[in-house]
Amino acid sequence: MRILVIGSGGREHALLKAMKGHELFVAPGNAGMSTLATVRAVNEMSPEAVVALAREVEAELVVIGPEIPLVAGVSDALREAGFAVFGPSRAAAQLEGSKAFAKDVMASAGVLTAAATQITAAAEIDAVLDEYGPRYVVKDDGLAGGKGVVVTENREAARAHAAAVIEAGNPVLFESYLEGPEVSLFCLVDGTTVVPLLPAQDHKRAHDGDQGPNTGGMGAYTPLPWLPEGAVERIVADVVEPVAREMVSRGIPYQGLLYAGIAWGPEGPAVVEFNARFGDPETQAVLALLESPLADVLRAVATGTLADQPALLWRKGYAATVVLASEGYPEAPRTGDVLTGDNLDDPEAVLHAGTASREGTYLSAGGRVLNALGVGGTLKEAVDAAYSEIERVQLQGSFYRRDIARAAIEGAISL
Ligand code: GLY
Repeated sequence: MRILVIGSGGREHALLKAMKGHELFVAPGNAGMSTLATVRAVNEMSPEAVVALAREVEAELVVIGPEIPLVAGVSDALREAGFAVFGPSRAAAQLEGSKAFAKDVMASAGVLTAAATQITAAAEIDAVLDEYGPRYVVKDDGLAGGKGVVVTENREAARAHAAAVIEAGNPVLFESYLEGPEVSLFCLVDGTTVVPLLPAQDHKRAHDGDQGPNTGGMGAYTPLPWLPEGAVERIVADVVEPVAREMVSRGIPYQGLLYAGIAWGPEGPAVVEFNARFGDPETQAVLALLESPLADVLRAVATGTLADQPALLWRKGYAATVVLASEGYPEAPRTGDVLTGDNLDDPEAVLHAGTASREGTYLSAGGRVLNALGVGGTLKEAVDAAYSEIERVQLQGSFYRRDIARAAIEGAISL
């Protein structure tokens, strides 16, 4: 099959790896992807440009990785032009693009989530801060790819983030803090058919011990040894299926990947957020264990035949990914430094995110530079394997968390 993947991060590199053997194109891609796919330039926010590229490469399937093209209506334009597309319509992607829309859908679907208040004027900030706390969750309700969230007990920091978001012209969402360990559950959704992938856990803070600022994600592991049997089925039944049905009843059926970010507190699974795409970096770990042919599964979603697919097959054991970040990430990532390592062209070991190449040398080109991968029979073996890969990479000033999955390995997480 001729497949065009839109995006340029570690998630898209993982998608390409899982579809190896097909004729793969990626745009805009990154330097490390050229071993698996033809890398093409595109303005991924332009529906016309993506349709033109899909025509040129005669794509039989287009897979849209990030949220920004989804919210820009790229999947709608591709569908109108007759392409099979994996990725929700602009209207359905509002589940990620507008937290207020997502809250409204959840309220109608009877799904547990945090209390929330949206404001658009700086004069309202103090009154809302009085209602929330002692831990403040302050979200940029424009689209921020999971990166515009501040969670803090410092009222001044909460106020400053809210003011900065309003200054930038976006609404701010204040939420009550949801207790409990977090689960990322990615579900293939095709109308009312929901097929979950393995549950994973991200590490959102920049530094060990969940210290430092929130990031796009610093490492992940899958599956979750502390999650009791039946937990995934419960998230599907209590959260994802009701939302999928609600979307159908609103006339905007969801077709793509619905990422439920869950906090499992005393009252059961509650939604922290939805994303309209595969999560990053959890996808890199989750797809490392998938044995079913990903391209067939994504095409089934794109053509409305997910219900006819055989059950997904998974390799036994665990997978982990550790993100190598450039100096200064997330506030002011430094780029343009030389990246070396004997595993940089091995997608079983390293998936590229923010890399470029110049005269045969890799350079850092973003905050999250690459993802080291490990798989193993036990979670500890998988994590150790990922760390032994990341130790083989050199990038001046870079850093990574040393405690990915440590709490799970030590048995310190429970519901
Ligand atoms: N795992 C975080 C994100 O993809 O937004």
